Amino acid sequence: MADNTTPPADQLAATTLNDTVQRHPFSDRVPIREIVSRPDGGSGLAGQRVRVGGWVKTGREQGKGTFAFLELNDGSCPANLQVIVDAAVADLGPLVQTGTCVSVDGLLKMPPEGTKQKIELRVEQVLHVGTVDPSTYPIPKTKLTLEFLRDRIHFRPRTNTISAVARIRNALAYATHTFFQKYGFLYVQTPIITTSDCEGAGEMFQITTLINDSEKLEKELIKNPPPSEADVEAAKVLVKEQGEVVAQLKAAKASKGDITASVAELTKAKENYSKLEERAKLKPGIPQKDGKIDYSQDFFSRQAFLTVSGQLQVETYACAVRSVYTFGPTFRAEHSHTSRHLAEFWMVEPEIAFADLKDDMNCAEAYVKFMCQWLLDKCLDDMEFMAKSYDKTCISRLRMVASTPFERVTYTEAVELLQDAVKGGKNFENKVEWGIDLASEHERYLTEVKFQKPVIVYNYPKGIKAFYMRLNDDSKTVAAMDVLVPKVGELIGGSQREERYENIKQRILEMGLPLEPYEWYLDLRRYGTVKHSGFGLGFERMILFATGIENIRDVIPFPRYPGRADL
Ligand code: 4AD
Ligand code: MG
Repeated sequence: MADNTTPPADQLAATTLNDTVQRHPFSDRVPIREIVSRPDGGSGLAGQRVRVGGWVKTGREQGKGTFAFLELNDGSCPANLQVIVDAAVADLGPLVQTGTCVSVDGLLKMPPEGTKQKIELRVEQVLHVGTVDPSTYPIPKTKLTLEFLRDRIHFRPRTNTISAVARIRNALAYATHTFFQKYGFLYVQTPIITTSDCEGAGEMFQITTLINDSEKLEKELIKNPPPSEADVEAAKVLVKEQGEVVAQLKAAKASKGDITASVAELTKAKENYSKLEERAKLKPGIPQKDGKIDYSQDFFSRQAFLTVSGQLQVETYACAVRSVYTFGPTFRAEHSHTSRHLAEFWMVEPEIAFADLKDDMNCAEAYVKFMCQWLLDKCLDDMEFMAKSYDKTCISRLRMVASTPFERVTYTEAVELLQDAVKGGKNFENKVEWGIDLASEHERYLTEVKFQKPVIVYNYPKGIKAFYMRLNDDSKTVAAMDVLVPKVGELIGGSQREERYENIKQRILEMGLPLEPYEWYLDLRRYGTVKHSGFGLGFERMILFATGIENIRDVIPFPRYPGRADL
């Protein structure tokens, strides 16, 4: 405390005798990281009082039930805090169950010589116990497989692996914004709902309210059936008769009051008739027009989808404010059941005006290196956990990538290298010839075996790449580039964009895509066109690469893939 005022008693417990341990600014507890992640392992804090809260990893009663050891984790770091509770302080039975939430006040003490902990907490008061029934708790103490945890997605973050992944993911997101902000990129939020197919691959999830509207209508019609033809006919006859009554009254020069009343009756009959006529037209099912679904009746009055990439939209900003990036969820309805594909994944997409393919490759390389160094600097404890549990080589891989220039080869050279490998006895499932889309096995051979470092393959055949990529002078290849990394294969896909109006129009037509939805995109070339380039980095693939975890479903908080979308 800088001044001499005495803090209230409850604050005393939460803060400390001196201010070396910081309590959380918006909660009354001290994050366990503040204690155990110090360079001295926390030993310098002996003698201080703290309030902590977390979940019991393991607990055991000792000394014939006179006290208990709890390993407490609050997710702020991989390490646990050892907590000792005397039976005089609290009922030990519920405390020692794995998964129990506890919040305690206590005194930090040096443990006895020879124990692995550098500091432990002697509990003076138990403030909260969130109990667990061990007979039904879905994630008991035993070592659990990642597959098992996928079926208990709401409890996954309580495990060492998933909480470490969450911290690494968070660090990479922070690194991403730091990198692009450092180089003056503007963060642009592109739409999730879109009416253009960026990759032209037809792998989009459609968004429509036609289905729920039609279900609602179906239910409504059951409760409140539409009028029969006879009902409509009767209403029509009523209109005709009432019309005649009005005519007769007028002819007979009846009183103004009588005529007005009769006209009002006629109006009512007409309204009733048109209402019945409308309702009689209501049909269950999705509205159709000319034998096709009538999207003019859909929410956006046209077909709409979840985006596969924010690229096309972010280009509108790049072609106005130079360097921009978008970072958000993207969606692909691919029926891939691989360990590298998700139906919902996050993508980081920078886009730079006045930049060519070489600039694009330089940016991609610098960004990947920056992220690797960031993890080494900020997340070493979590990386050490990954090295111990999943992939011994993950830390050395980060070091290597952070410090080694990436290899760059053209697609044509890559195909030659693969063909050389085949001649040398290497077996690939997919035949290697110029023009093929490189398969994962080819990509991994190049990066893991041939070069043993990240490889950028560029200038791909135009036939296997998207319409927006710039045609090279050979008219056969486009200025595309993919960054391939060990463990993962393709991490980044990017290109220089086709900025010439005639060329891009031609490419859209060649690919059999309709021009109309891309008119706005063509406008960027019609008016004030500029050379520009960009790329997309698959955020989950970056986490796979960093951690060495095998399946992409385990590095996103809520994985979505064919057949599964829990929570
Ligand atoms: O290569 P892609 O399809 O490129 C684009 O979408 C461009 N519009 C990006 C751009 O230039 N702005 O996808 C980019 C990256 C891939 O390299 C891969 O890492 C990742 O996104 N990716 C996926 N990640 C997880 N699950 C999937 N189904 C993925 N599809 C692509
Ligand atoms: Mg790609």
